[in-house]
Amino acid sequence: NQADFGVIGMGVMGKSLALNLADKGVSLSIYNRYVEGKEVRVAEKVLEENPGYNNIQPFENIQSFVASLSSPKSILLMIPAGNAVDLQINELIPLLNPGDILVDGGNSFYKDTNARAELLKEKGILFVGTGVSGGEEGARRGPSIMPGGDKDGFSKIAPYLEVIAAKDFQGKPCVTYAGPGGAGHFVKMVHNSIEYGEMQAISEVYYLMRNYLDLSSLEIADIFEKWMDSDLASYLLEITIDILRKYEDGEPLIDKILDQAAQKGTGGWSVNTALEYGVPYGVLSEAVMARNLSARKGLRMIASGLYNLDRFTGIEDLENFLDKLQAAYQATRIINHEVGFSLMLEVSEKNNWALNFSEIARIWTNGCIIRSKLMEELVDIFKESNHILLNYEAITALKSYQGDLSYVVGQALQNGFPVPVLSNAINYFLGVTTANSAASLIQAQRDYFGAHTYRRNDGDPDKAFHTNWKE
Ligand code: 6PG
Repeated sequence: NQADFGVIGMGVMGKSLALNLADKGVSLSIYNRYVEGKEVRVAEKVLEENPGYNNIQPFENIQSFVASLSSPKSILLMIPAGNAVDLQINELIPLLNPGDILVDGGNSFYKDTNARAELLKEKGILFVGTGVSGGEEGARRGPSIMPGGDKDGFSKIAPYLEVIAAKDFQGKPCVTYAGPGGAGHFVKMVHNSIEYGEMQAISEVYYLMRNYLDLSSLEIADIFEKWMDSDLASYLLEITIDILRKYEDGEPLIDKILDQAAQKGTGGWSVNTALEYGVPYGVLSEAVMARNLSARKGLRMIASGLYNLDRFTGIEDLENFLDKLQAAYQATRIINHEVGFSLMLEVSEKNNWALNFSEIARIWTNGCIIRSKLMEELVDIFKESNHILLNYEAITALKSYQGDLSYVVGQALQNGFPVPVLSNAINYFLGVTTANSAASLIQAQRDYFGAHTYRRNDGDPDKAFHTNWKE
């Protein structure tokens, strides 16, 4: 009795996706490599912990695992990104036949996926690199899935992906073919980047409320709960409310969590990609750098003692400030999404991927970490333009929020509270809406010290000029 589908890697995500597939009636073989000296047989343990699945067979021998699958074989890799994926692929290649389908569902770097797609194409193996979002709960109950790579391969496994995916508000599965090669993993990378921006923005808003406005975590949770009834509603805001209400021994648990943010790399990869393609993506680089700075706890402790800055707490008109903060937060979110999608636009155009942003927004309306009311609105906005900023409703919103964002950032800085993402958002907004910028002076300076030449706005813009500045 051969199985329809194989899953390699029984970590949290692999196990949850396997159980999700099995729940939908798919017959499965699961495999986890046997680690010498470890007692636990990981694949078998999945079944011990989740009894009653007659449609799952566990393996710890890769040959028998592959042999147990019906042809063409479909195998999903759910193993940590990086070298482990190459090792696993190399082990599988001699066991697979042309026409078999290999899917990498980890957070692989999209250029690695491009290279693996090339290699596997030579062997006739259909390789699909897919982003999967939603964490453990999403994987188990319905993730958002962002596949790319071999289109034939995708079509063959699409029924499996569709049956396990989250559903959008119309009941359509949150899965769409992104594009060739590493396009699916690229889309997932940008998903995580928007996630970084959203998380940092919420954290800055929370921190201001807690320290500048002097509100308790419970009061802040109540305010966020009200915000959930507005355009600000999002999964990340919702989980933040639960987090702020979590108490341990009579104190908010958040106060006991060491303030050093970890990261696994996807945000930084997008910063690198933005640099490579010349895309202004300051919100994300600020979000990543804020995590980097948070990790320098030792330095912060010393500097905090040495400078002992006055940080002012408490304001007169709390309600008024909260209204402004709400607007500032929403403006930041719009800009965070705009710049994330504009990275995708640039890379998509340069690589001829033809990414469909409305579809990408649609599969991000459920199952994934950045699902939100705003994302639902983006599904239609992207039908009209590739830039959120150019949409009529966004223009109206940003015009009305701009003053509040500037005000909040100004107050935060003056009173001693860092707001890197909020302030980058207003700087980006003011920059992108400036027709004649300070870059004229940069060009003059470059020409002055290095004869790098400049172009003029009062003639042929393609002609290079050089001036002898000292004359
Ligand atoms: C998701 C998450 C998931 C993971 C992040 C966390 O979409 O389900 O984004 O992929 O939790 O990679 O990333 P950091 O560890 O870098 O914060």
